[in-house]
Order: sequence, then structure tokens, then C-alpha cells
Amino acid sequence: MTPDRSAAVPGRSFLRILACFALLALAPGLPFTTRAADDAGDEVWITLDREAYATASWLLPLPRLGEAEGVVLTRIPSVRVAELSQRLHTELARCGGFMAHQSLADGQAELARVASLERRTEGTLPFAIDQPAWVAQVAGAVDEAQILATVTTLSTGFPNRYHAHASGTSSANWIKNLWAGYAAGRPEVTVELVTHPAGVTPQPSVVLTIPGTSLADQIIVLGAHQDSISSGCSGNPSCNAPGADDDASGVATLSEVVRVVLASGFAPQRTVRVMAYAAEEVGLRGSNDLAAAYQTAGANVVAVLQQDMTGYHGSAEDVAFISDWTNATLTAFLVDLLETYQPGLLWTSATCGYACSDHAPWHNRGYPAAFAFEARFGQYNPTIHTTSDTVATLGNSAAHAAKFARLAAAFLVETSLDSNSTLFTDGFESGDTSAWGLVVP
Ligand code: BES
Ligand code: ZN
Repeated sequence: MTPDRSAAVPGRSFLRILACFALLALAPGLPFTTRAADDAGDEVWITLDREAYATASWLLPLPRLGEAEGVVLTRIPSVRVAELSQRLHTELARCGGFMAHQSLADGQAELARVASLERRTEGTLPFAIDQPAWVAQVAGAVDEAQILATVTTLSTGFPNRYHAHASGTSSANWIKNLWAGYAAGRPEVTVELVTHPAGVTPQPSVVLTIPGTSLADQIIVLGAHQDSISSGCSGNPSCNAPGADDDASGVATLSEVVRVVLASGFAPQRTVRVMAYAAEEVGLRGSNDLAAAYQTAGANVVAVLQQDMTGYHGSAEDVAFISDWTNATLTAFLVDLLETYQPGLLWTSATCGYACSDHAPWHNRGYPAAFAFEARFGQYNPTIHTTSDTVATLGNSAAHAAKFARLAAAFLVETSLDSNSTLFTDGFESGDTSAWGLVVP
């Protein structure tokens, strides 16, 4: 099934601008700016789309250091980053969405990746929808209350997960311990803190690995970002950035997937990695560092799913599949999963218009990535990046996030088994298609 490619319906974009302004207040203190200043005399390299570049050029002359597929590389004085963000917000009604680079060479490498994307983003997938019994068992065990508990702990117990603060490292440890608890009794499963270079972020990413049984060199990644941001956070460790929806909801969604999958005894053929990325809110830093490391190692990542904001039911549809900076074939597979296992749900497609979350660094390196999002663009949670992004704004409910947990559980099961796998769960014999009518309760 091909996802609907219609443009996102605009509306309530002013609320997004408000959320952006909360972030804008942070811009002068963004650490990448500081680092760039150290490296290059108060300048920072950024890539941004052509429309944003044109808009930014009204503000100040910006050198065109390169361009690929509508993405421009430029350099700006770090003291003008805030002004630039503001201009983009007011003119384009969206956040900046630029990607920060540590050097001219890094920016050029990003352009090279973008230039070679077209021929690498399509293709056939080495898996199919043929594990209904496992999906029914695993996704059927998803518990809303568990998701709500995790969102609540992250957003109230760690209401400041800003990447550069000590509390942003405490929250990483808490996530690590939560996942390690789920992995008790599964000695083959590992949970680790992955540190990033000091100039990238002091916040570690958390990575859980379920080694594959027979196709271990093929990797499935499920990710969400663990950091949060809000006005005044860069210089103030006691600032309030609950980030319940953005993105405690994504971490909680994936935590529940980890819990139900490991409790079920499911053993993937491919290696599964669940990642709570560091420092997404300051330029996709944790995911970019991880994706770069995987590429350098020549890792064979066959599918990536991003879960950023799953808690707020703002549209008539239940799920919006992001159709830019993602792989169309993998996105269509995700649509099929939803229609097969949660046929009562409605979906639509939407575009961010820029590299808005952690799927982008994978996609840019040619790895197939997909992103299931909570609402149409312009109808999503208007409180993100403010002190009001709380469980109360989510109606004290994880009902919406649970749909994404069931979808992600189905994704994990189906992508991690070979398409002709006969690893059926108990009671499902090869050739017996009676269970194919199973849907997730
Ligand atoms: N969760 C948002 C991204 C998002 C918001 C996606 C609304 C879709 C709809 C993410 O955490 C974020 O804030 N991203 C930044 C860009 C990033 C490169 C710093 C943004 O959107 O400004
Ligand atoms: Zn955000």
C-alpha cells in the first residue's frame, strides 16, 4: 500500500511558532555555537533547505558554500543564530530545522550524502508481513499503564533532560536501568551507555541490543530521543523541560516494546537495537554520531524506525507517516503493518519539510528509515518545548502512545525475521493460515 502523498494540511501553525520561540530563547547558548566559535572564529556551519536559505539571506548575506538536492551549506556568525532562527520562524512558520556541523568538511560530507540519496532510498525489503501469531502475542501484551508510568517518571522525576546538564545524564542512567530490568533473565541482551565525543554532547545515548540468531549482521534500529528542551534551559540546570510528549512518549513507547518483546521469549533472527538518543534537540547530535559510526563500520542497517512524539491525539487520524527524509518503501511497509494489525485505526501522511528528528541522519547515509508521528503537521501537541509539555496535556493517558507501541512491536517482530521464516509461535503451524485474521486486541 502506498501512503497518501498529499500535502499536510496547514493549521495551528502559530502554535508551532510559539513552541519554536521557546527554543529560540536558547539559541545563543547552544553548545554547537560555542564549539564552532572555538573552532572557527565565531562562525558555525549549517545545512538548511533552499527556502530557508533564501529567507535567511534577507537577513544577512550568507555564503553559498555548496548545494545538493535543494539543501544549502552555509556559514553564519554564531552571534546571529538566534536572529536567524527568529527570521525562519516568522517567515516560514516553522522551526529552523538546520543541521549543525563541526567543520566545513563535515558540512560538505553532509551535502555529499544528500546528493547520493535519490538512488539509495528505494528498494526491496528483506522481510514481509507473515508473523501474525507473534505479533498478536507481543503487541497484544502492550500495557497503556506501563507507558504512562514511564512518561510520568521521565517528565516529573527528570523534568530537565537537557543534554548538557547533569540531570540529562541521570535520566540516561534511569532509562538504562529500566531496560536492564526488562532484560533480566535474557543474558544475551545487553544494555549500554554509548558516550559521544566531548564536542558533540556530554549526554550518553542508551542502546539495548538483542543479538540476532541467524542473520546477526543485519540490524534493525528502533529509536527515540531522550533529551528535552525548554526556554532558559541552556544556562539553567534547574529549568523545567518536562518533555512528556517530546520525547518521553517515544522513549516510553519503545520501553514498552522492549518489555513485551523480552517477556515473550521472542528471539529475532536479525540483531535488534533499541536506542534512546542523546541531544536530538540541539541538532540531532546523538543519532548523527551513532549513524556515522555505523556507516564507518560498514554496518548493514536494514530498517530504522523513529518514534518522536506519540502521546497527543491532535488529528482525526491516529498516525501520520512522515514522507520526507524517510524511505518510501519502508514507510509503505509500516502502513501495511498498521492496516494489517490495527485495522480500526486511521492514518495519513505528512511532511516535516526539513530534517526534523533522528531518522534523518540514518536516511542521509542511505539507511532505510521511517517515522510514525502523532498527528498531522500543524495539529500536533502545541506545548512542545515549553514547561506545559506534561502528562496533563496528554490527558493523563497513554492510549494514543499505545497504538504506536503496538505498531512498533509489530515492526520489530516482522522486520527482524526473514520473510520466509517458519519460526512460528506455539500453536501456529507452518501452512496453517487461520491465524492470519488475528489483529491486535
Ligand atoms: N519532536 C521534534 C520534531 C517534530 C516536531 C517533528 C513537530 C514533527 C513535528 C524534535 O524534537 C525537534 O524539536 N526538532 C527540531 C529540529 C532539530 C534538528 C533540532 C525542530 O523541529 O525544530
Ligand atoms: Zn523537540
